[in-house]
Amino acid sequence: MALWGGRFSGAADDRFKLFNDSLPVDYRLFQQDITGSIAWAGALSQVGVLNELEHGQLVLALNQLSEEVTDADILGSGAEDIHSFVEQQLIAKVGDLGKKLHTGRSRNDQVATDLKLWCKHRGQELIEALVKAQHELLVLAEREAQTVLPGYTHLQRAQPITFGHWCLCYVEMLERDLTRLQDAINRMDTCPLGSGALAGTAYPIDRAELAQKLGFRGPVTNSLDAVSDRDHVVELCSAAATSMMHLSRLAEDMIFYNSGEAGFIELSDAVTSGSSLMPQKKNPDALELIRGKAGRVYGSLMGILTTMKALPMAYNKDMQEDKEGLFDALDSWLMCLDMVTLVLEGVQVNKPRMLAAAQQGYANATELADYLVAKGIPFREAHHIVGEVVLGAIEQGKALEDFTLPELQVYSDSIESDVYQHLTIDACLAKREALGGTSIKQVQQALALQNVVQTEL
Ligand code: ARG
Repeated sequence: MALWGGRFSGAADDRFKLFNDSLPVDYRLFQQDITGSIAWAGALSQVGVLNELEHGQLVLALNQLSEEVTDADILGSGAEDIHSFVEQQLIAKVGDLGKKLHTGRSRNDQVATDLKLWCKHRGQELIEALVKAQHELLVLAEREAQTVLPGYTHLQRAQPITFGHWCLCYVEMLERDLTRLQDAINRMDTCPLGSGALAGTAYPIDRAELAQKLGFRGPVTNSLDAVSDRDHVVELCSAAATSMMHLSRLAEDMIFYNSGEAGFIELSDAVTSGSSLMPQKKNPDALELIRGKAGRVYGSLMGILTTMKALPMAYNKDMQEDKEGLFDALDSWLMCLDMVTLVLEGVQVNKPRMLAAAQQGYANATELADYLVAKGIPFREAHHIVGEVVLGAIEQGKALEDFTLPELQVYSDSIESDVYQHLTIDACLAKREALGGTSIKQVQQALALQNVVQTEL
């Protein structure tokens, strides 16, 4: 039976019921609905709506439901939403007493509370997943701290870096994701319960105490805002979208590194799949899916922003559309973090291939320019000279260091025999010594710092 039958003389059309019911999505709020209901029963007993005995009976029955009920029970119930389901089950257990629980409460403050509780819980799981992914990146960074990788801009070989430096770049990105998420969780940490349908509850509930019992920092202070605010859904989707953007870049980097053309890394069999036609294929499916799922998470963010746009105060049924996209976005994010961790765990690095690639493509051209600067030539001029050297090298199909000294001196008589020691990969790396650079010392320092942060968590 619906929660609101009295005013109606006709039955709902089956198609409308299918359209209107949110149970197939909000069944996931079951435990939160029980938690909120137990707290509400406590509040009602404090204001004398329930006596001790009734309060005890309701709490017992709600706890029993929490233990007994399975997802299949909920989904097979035909209830309109999770709140209706819990109330129906309660009435089935304790009879008319169950009908008292909704006194002074509305599904509007109830759903807002349930959803915030769910978000806070899922937020913690996401924080753990982010830390795990960071940890795996740090393990890899440590292992490959000295491994040379060609660094790219415009997907053209630019300057040599280390694989460890690449890993640490993503540790930083995930760190920002983590603080963004934490920030969103902190902001949503206020309790809507006790705001009624929109105008506040007519019972003298101690909302501060109620909020505290439910683990919130405090109550939402305006009842209209309490029932109509979905900023936390927007913020979580936004945090998810930003982090997925980061994960998609990591995925793209690794897909490229794993390609036959680059051959820098090899992904484990555990996260790749074959082709039904081409026996030689080993496809980077896990990474491609991460890259792909970024799109649907962006979709959820756009969805909730658009749903909330220009909604009049206070609750409107439009807002029931808040959950599907949120659940999907946070599920996707969590799964992708888990997958990234798994991919990183099994990655093999082909050091000779990476080193050879870093040696090609004139990645040491900047070094030659810096060498000329050290000999007193202004950088812009040095840049031009080295451009000519590179052009000559390309024409002859060789590396800068393959030129003999007289050949180099054709371009600039400032070049002397000490030039060669500046053109090695080691020299390129060692020079990047300022804070944040790719020198092995800097990478090791960054690693040490990150390890301190992780052990503090
Ligand atoms: N299923 C609804 C939702 O998720 C619960 C709130 C219903 N409130 C109402 N006044 N119809 O938003």
